[in-house]
Amino acid sequence: MKKLMAANWKMHKTTEEAFDTAEELVALCGAALPEDREVLVIPPFTALRRTGQALAGNPRFLLGGQNFYPEEQGAFTGEISPAMLLDVGCAFVLAGHSERRHVLGETDEMVGRKVAFGLERGLSVILCVGERIDERRAGQVEQVLRTQLDKGLAGVDRGVDPERLVVAYEPVWAIGTGEVAGPQEIVQAHAFVRQELVRAFGEAGREMRIQYGGSVKPDNAAEIIHLDNVDGVLVGGASLRADSFSRIVLAD
Ligand code: 13P
Repeated sequence: MKKLMAANWKMHKTTEEAFDTAEELVALCGAALPEDREVLVIPPFTALRRTGQALAGNPRFLLGGQNFYPEEQGAFTGEISPAMLLDVGCAFVLAGHSERRHVLGETDEMVGRKVAFGLERGLSVILCVGERIDERRAGQVEQVLRTQLDKGLAGVDRGVDPERLVVAYEPVWAIGTGEVAGPQEIVQAHAFVRQELVRAFGEAGREMRIQYGGSVKPDNAAEIIHLDNVDGVLVGGASLRADSFSRIVLAD
């Protein structure tokens, strides 16, 4: 199973800034990229095509979208379809990122529609899940993850190719705060996600990747990436600069 090292650039970078960062990233880690790793760059929509140009010709550097609407086309002002993401070279897309859930009000049901539709239309999907700090303090981590996974995966074909479905565990309290989850917290949450994936998909659930996200930095990436059931990372702030993200990608 290849570890998936993903850069979520959120609402950062113009087209040329994105191109330059992606080009520098390929230069810094292209030749050194271990066989068992893939790099995924997820820029804003406007920079997708240009970022794809910088990654072109490097098969283990993939392009992803941050969001989409689960319809083929139509009167959905401001939205974008899976076909449009595929058209500019995306292989992956995020669904249910905590900022979409908590800033933009996306429900578990909408996230579930997106996961199923994105997969059906040919994208690989990263379903993001994670608890808020009040939920952790109330001892509700597993309950929250179970609900998000149940609803997020409800419409997914049970025979889905396990390489195309990724779950990212991103505790909300660790996102953009500098407060990384401890190894024990990560191992416990990932073991629970694995158990739920196996419950839903049988043995194929063991082949699905589970990423950790939340204040991953160059100096904590090596420890995180070697924890049980951590099959990659989803990085925000520390992915914005190629020198910093390349150190995460190559962390060992
Ligand atoms: P930070 O790495 O900035 O904490 O963001 C994590 C994240 O939300 C990635 O999707």
